[in-house]
Amino acid sequence: MRVRILGTAAGGGVPQWNCACGGCAAARDDPARRRRHASLAVQGGAGWWVVNATPDVTEQIEATADLRPYAGTRRSPVAGVILTDAELDHTLGLPRLREAASLRVAATRTVRGALSAGLRLDAVLAPYTDLTWTELDDGQVRLDGGLEVQAVPVSAKRPRYAADLDVPGDSWVVALRVTSGGRSLLYAPCLAAWPAELDAAVRDADCAVLDGTFWDDDEPRRTGISRRTATEMGHLPINGPGGTAGRVAALSGPHVLYTHLNNTNPLADRDGDEHQALAAMGLGVAAERTAIEL
Ligand code: MLT
Ligand code: MN
Ligand code: ZN
Repeated sequence: MRVRILGTAAGGGVPQWNCACGGCAAARDDPARRRRHASLAVQGGAGWWVVNATPDVTEQIEATADLRPYAGTRRSPVAGVILTDAELDHTLGLPRLREAASLRVAATRTVRGALSAGLRLDAVLAPYTDLTWTELDDGQVRLDGGLEVQAVPVSAKRPRYAADLDVPGDSWVVALRVTSGGRSLLYAPCLAAWPAELDAAVRDADCAVLDGTFWDDDEPRRTGISRRTATEMGHLPINGPGGTAGRVAALSGPHVLYTHLNNTNPLADRDGDEHQALAAMGLGVAAERTAIEL
């Protein structure tokens, strides 16, 4: 299975348009420090599936040689989009893909319901493209190109725009276990909670790419971006009590990389000391525009 990291930032990206914090200012001066919204692409056999359609999606496709169109007109290796949740940073890219004659999207019924009722996505896109949905609710699903996808329920954290929406089910956020040819990737860029099932899902994966929005729980308050802690904002911190690093470091086996870094996260700076602390636990940070062969 081939994996391409398309982006590694939380909502807003690095730099964020309205922010000149240390991390954003440094990224504005040094293009090597820029991070696009968190996303990756996976290929089993034929065709690539993009996991989460970010506001950067078409630039991400363009920046990735494997995802660029075939010779001729309007023939793309991108087979469709798989969604982990209905957050804006993971779905605003869907309208940007409207030039496709048809667009396949795999998501839970809850996520589909939120996008239809909250963002009117089906109605808005209908005049542009033939949107077809694959539901991820019932066990392992086989996608075109030989990929098997299984949604592991994570939390019922709703996007803010969906606070009062009436939608089916409560699979608001899932981790995706993508398998092909006996190899597997676990992608979990939104971890408001750590259900017991995730331990096995991480342990069994060849590579796990996890929510690393905030380094520690107090980071959002300390940096002044929020009055809430990381946990209260729906993102378990990496470090400290209740952090995910200690938990995953204790699970033997998988190659673990953090993604969805907020622009306040010291890990967004590749030279930050926190990288050494993470490496000492056998963990790392996903780098922009990298290839992983599993
Ligand atoms: C999140 O990850 O919590 C959301 O994407 C926040 C947002 O709306 O930007
Ligand atoms: Mn997000
Ligand atoms: Zn900033």
